[in-house]
Amino acid sequence: MMNQIHNFLENYQLDSPQPDLFGSTFSHPTKIFFSPNSDKKISNFQNEFWTAKQRKSCSLHEISYRACFKAELPSFFINLLTKENDVVYDPFSGRGTTAIEAALQKRQIISNDVNPLSQIFAEARLEIPNIQDVVRRLEGIKISKKFSAGIDLSMFFEKETLHEILSLKNYLQKKRDSKSEDGVDRWIRMVATNRLTGHSSGFFSVYTLPPNQAISAKKQAEINAKNNRRAEYRDTKSIIAKKSQSLLRSLSHEQKENLHQAKKTAIFLNESAASTAKILANSVNLIVTSPPFLDVVDYASDNWLRCWFNGIDQFELQKKISSHSKIEQWNKFIFSCFSEFYRVVKPGGYVAFEVGEVKNGKIKLEDHVLPIGLNVGFNCIAVIVNSQTFTKTSNIWGVINNKKGTNSNRIVLFQKS
Ligand SMILES: C[S@@+](CC[C@H](N)C(=O)[O-])C[C@H]1O[C@@H](n2cnc3c(N)ncnc32)[C@H](O)[C@@H]1O
Repeated sequence: MMNQIHNFLENYQLDSPQPDLFGSTFSHPTKIFFSPNSDKKISNFQNEFWTAKQRKSCSLHEISYRACFKAELPSFFINLLTKENDVVYDPFSGRGTTAIEAALQKRQIISNDVNPLSQIFAEARLEIPNIQDVVRRLEGIKISKKFSAGIDLSMFFEKETLHEILSLKNYLQKKRDSKSEDGVDRWIRMVATNRLTGHSSGFFSVYTLPPNQAISAKKQAEINAKNNRRAEYRDTKSIIAKKSQSLLRSLSHEQKENLHQAKKTAIFLNESAASTAKILANSVNLIVTSPPFLDVVDYASDNWLRCWFNGIDQFELQKKISSHSKIEQWNKFIFSCFSEFYRVVKPGGYVAFEVGEVKNGKIKLEDHVLPIGLNVGFNCIAVIVNSQTFTKTSNIWGVINNKKGTNSNRIVLFQKS
């Protein structure tokens, strides 16, 4: 199998070659080299493996989450390494990119993340509602002025808008508490959570950071004062309906059916990736995942408003998220995760593990992940480096970006023998 994969990567041709600077189309030959910092002869393959298909990804993926990967990444490995009904698992699922892509492609899914928002984002997208049902349900939610936010949110939301958000929050909480929440409610919760704050009038808030990154109330008040800006009324129900339509715009009947089938066997967990006793040993065909890279992203504070809306304790979450400033601690954590991956992956199954450059490229995480994977018993098939072809304009910036070392889309691929 290793030779087959190597041949595929070596002879990879873009589906739709990109135009070069002179307007003619071309595709790059794959660059092949050995990992520079390993005494084991690990082959590296570099090409534009998945970004070329970027425009083809399903609209259903358009949910924002900190450090999420593009759906083309899991799609590449799902296509290459699995077949229909195989089990695909993401232990650090985030918004659920791997799970949704695998479900769209008729695979069974397991999705885990310590952040409960992960299930809120992923599960709802397996139960695609009818848009009329969403609109009707929204119309039925009574807007009341009697609820309190418990904290001052006036720097983010206009008064009437906040009443709408609080009424929605209370409605969803009641449905959840009475265990009567259905697929339409889960969909509304998912979309509303995603529309809370952002940088356009398509969000409930005043102009702020992109939606995956909520800044503190104090900072937002300062920014408003500096820019002489205040929150304006937003019609939250219309925003939810519009975003719902946009998420569903490219979804075919067949894809809806695939999602529906995947829901029947889907497993959602809210555990540490190092300890997932509910997943049977030797049950997973493919893991595709991207772990927290040391302490680069603060997942709990970036999501504080989303946590508030969903009744999740941000400080409890903070304690559970693995965030390590020192590489030695991170290695220890990743070792415990890989021991667990080895338990759950079937013989012959794979782990595609995204690694990045951190500390301005001084630490290359594949140098650390490689020995860990080998130590727990996996074979390393290859390191796969995705490089982008730039258009004329972005080529200029692309070169600068590369110099800065931001081209860090790399996957270490392991197999259990
Ligand atoms: C890089 S993000 C994954 C993003 C995901 N690939 C996506 O497309 O949305 C890393 C995720 O790991 C989660 N996480 C952090 N520590 C964890 C742990 N010990 N076990 C499981 N998940 C954890 C974070 O909550 C975050 O969602």
